[in-house]
Amino acid sequence: MKEEWRYIFSKGVFEGEFRFMEPMKNHTSLRIGGPADVFVIPQDPLSLRNLQVNFKKMQIPYFPLGGGTNILVKDGGIEGVVISFKSFKRIEVIREDNKYVDLSVEAGTPLQGLVNFSKWNGYSGIEGLTGIPGTVGGAVCGNAGAFGYEMKAVLISVWMIDAEGRLERFKAEDIDFGYRRSGISPAELLLSAEIRLMKDKKEDVSARVDSFLKEKRKRQPISAPSAGCVFKNPDGLSAGKLIDEAGCKGMRIGDVEVSNLHANFFINKGEAKASDFIRLMEKVALRVKEKFGIVLEPEIRIIGRDA
Ligand code: EPU
Repeated sequence: MKEEWRYIFSKGVFEGEFRFMEPMKNHTSLRIGGPADVFVIPQDPLSLRNLQVNFKKMQIPYFPLGGGTNILVKDGGIEGVVISFKSFKRIEVIREDNKYVDLSVEAGTPLQGLVNFSKWNGYSGIEGLTGIPGTVGGAVCGNAGAFGYEMKAVLISVWMIDAEGRLERFKAEDIDFGYRRSGISPAELLLSAEIRLMKDKKEDVSARVDSFLKEKRKRQPISAPSAGCVFKNPDGLSAGKLIDEAGCKGMRIGDVEVSNLHANFFINKGEAKASDFIRLMEKVALRVKEKFGIVLEPEIRIIGRDA
């Protein structure tokens, strides 16, 4: 092990796990991606902060990984360090009255863990997020949403380690949210989110969650390896519909295929490569451009280096 890593991972500075040359396909919902130089799972916020300060000092690039559900990692893997938030997954009630409940949710909490918690307790506000994979941290950073629900609508504030290594609280209204995006940069490490939900009848929340999930299952290939919607919806239009009408369903390059159920999902049918995925994106985007004159923009984030 190189000297710098020995220091970064020494006892007292870092508690947790670390691995070298970790295949990212083991950490993405698409099951695609070359190796990260280093993959770390810090166990506590102090270890996370120390990592970040040291990476900055030593100019080592780092990338905070949510659930790996909305990204395409290239075949050459990721330079530097990928940080996993696996160890941060507590949900805590911090305030409540007759009407509202405020929760503190750690960034690595699976979003569906939070949806289920709300369903079991009769807390309303995130029913539409059912079936969206990934972590709460990722859902906040990407302002995840569906069926007219979105993360920013329930967010009160977040705790983050900013790019300078300071622990800071940001109010939701000071974060620049947009359609499937936020002003939070990958240099900032989100630790937890405070959200406000409304108390409701358990049966009602549960019924809404179940019906959204049913709807989703009907329309989207939610159990096949994918990265969710590949392209953003152009203003007032559905990218899936455009891709479908351009005749792209079932189109395939290598082991990547345009879903026959929802055309904005590309499925890994086996041993798909990122390069094939990108070629298929280009081919589909070109077809849509030729047919409708509309330029599709990626919703997924493409990261890493070429093989
Ligand atoms: N449609 C087709 N063919 C297709 C897909 C869709 O004709 O292959 C039609 C549908 O029949 C429907 C219309 O297009 O009439 C809209 O489709 P859908 O209701 O599935 O919604 P969408 O606009 O394609 C958006 C989000 C999804 C989210 C759903 C449900 C984006 C890019 N897509 O999809 O989000 O789950 O609404 O609210 O924002 C994601 O972000 O990863 C994602 C999948």
